[in-house]
Amino acid sequence: MNKNVIESICCIGAGYVGGPTMAVIADRCPDIKVTVVDINEKRIAAWNEDDLDKLPIYEPGLDAVIKRARGRNLFFTTSINETIASSDMVFISVNTPTKTKGLGAGEASDIRWVEASARQVAKYAKGHTIVVEKSTLPVRTAAAIRSILETPQNRNEENTSKATFSVLSNPEFLSEGTAINDLESPDRVLIGGEDLEALDSLEAIYLQWVDKDKIIRTNLWSSELSKLTANAFLAQRISSINSVSAICEATGADVREVSKAIGSDSRIGQKFLNAGPGFGGSCFQKDILNLVYLCRHFGLLNVAEYWQQVVELNTWQQHRIYRLVLQNLFGTVTGKKLAILGFAFKADTNDTRESPAIRISKDLLEEGAFLMIHDPKVSSEKIYEDLGVSKLETNNEQLFISKNVFEAVNEADAVIILTEWNEYSKLDWALIAKKMRAPGWVFDTRSVVDPEQIKLAGLNFWRVGDGVLG
Ligand code: UDX
Ligand code: UDX
Repeated sequence: MNKNVIESICCIGAGYVGGPTMAVIADRCPDIKVTVVDINEKRIAAWNEDDLDKLPIYEPGLDAVIKRARGRNLFFTTSINETIASSDMVFISVNTPTKTKGLGAGEASDIRWVEASARQVAKYAKGHTIVVEKSTLPVRTAAAIRSILETPQNRNEENTSKATFSVLSNPEFLSEGTAINDLESPDRVLIGGEDLEALDSLEAIYLQWVDKDKIIRTNLWSSELSKLTANAFLAQRISSINSVSAICEATGADVREVSKAIGSDSRIGQKFLNAGPGFGGSCFQKDILNLVYLCRHFGLLNVAEYWQQVVELNTWQQHRIYRLVLQNLFGTVTGKKLAILGFAFKADTNDTRESPAIRISKDLLEEGAFLMIHDPKVSSEKIYEDLGVSKLETNNEQLFISKNVFEAVNEADAVIILTEWNEYSKLDWALIAKKMRAPGWVFDTRSVVDPEQIKLAGLNFWRVGDGVLG
């Protein structure tokens, strides 16, 4: 094989990152055979579904890309070893959650699946294989991967002498809900590594649809650290504006006006300045905690403390929303019916990982409220699982899940909007008010409803960043 030309790619991990990323690569590079592998048979079967509504993840525009590429040069399979053996390049895109026990528990990322993937690559790869870290990883993981690949005992007898490897870091910056657009028109593509030929090979793939000036090359460690830092900066902006939302509520300022005013400074910019119920998603908290762990490891305690505060402020904001609901409902929600609109961590995804709705709902359940939850894309099974309750245990007692907003608000004492789904900005509040129990409250943590409509409907209204509106 010409070392510079990639003809076949294997991606280990068919999740929110691996699936869409490989779909776009296959779509844009019809000459490359792209195979996504996963140990989860159900997930692979869902990726192979004829009915594109049944793909395992919901992402606008993903179905069209899958339709074009699947079966042509994009494949989903559980045959991991065979796929590794026949690929020139292997992306590792498995999950790396925060460790729950042992050294670094609660902070460091658990990279056991990355390590397992590297061992599989070491065992089954043939010829020269470029291994690309796609998962977000602690800095210097590439060194661990390289060491696993280069240890002769990890190789298969017949491959030992023949297989050679290069390790690159190529972090993903896609944001769920806009993943396809982010992949098709990225702000930048970051590639870290030392092996020039391998760097050229990966760059050649992206050059099929990305301008050369958007491709940034760095050393491995800078690439790994840039991913953690980018997420830390984004999350920090959200914690900053959420902290300001509390000051606004106390002083009579309006956080939307403050966001606009400060965002108009071109040095600050308008994006990522929406106050809300706190950030969720699989990355922000995990990556900051990783950074905190790294800082502590190197004795940079002040730096660790600084980033830790971004996460703490976020947790505080989530509890604050629950306390505000309680306060405004005369200090008790026991036995009251509360409609939760939105359970996903943001709009346009069915992902609930670290969703603020989980913590807020748990707080309210703990307080004795009856929750009626609506989300257009999250399944009721997932909601039950996230809240840690079995369906039988709570059905008809504390939890009711509906795919119909009007059913979810029936006899509610309050409606709490936690995700900014577009449909929530178009609700008929006069009709909703008729279904609710007076004095009905609306808590808008995402600034999606028109206060005027709520007022006309005769409902009480609290909104993040300006509090109770008279
Ligand atoms: C990604 C990144 O890889 C992670 O580092 C980042 O911080 C969050 O996003 P994501 O695609 O969202 O993860 O994770 P997930 O949807 O959980 O998908 C990972 C997939 O890897 C799962 O389908 C899982 O079954 C698979 N997997 C895991 C394997 O195939 N092999 C393993 O050994 C472990
Ligand atoms: C993030 C990063 O944006 C992406 O680059 C990285 O690759 C993975 O992590 P994602 O978690 O999918 O992407 O979504 P993002 O749009 O960043 O939102 C994260 C959380 O912040 C959501 O809960 C969202 O509602 C919240 N958010 C975002 C706000 O509360 N206010 C904002 O202004 C922006």
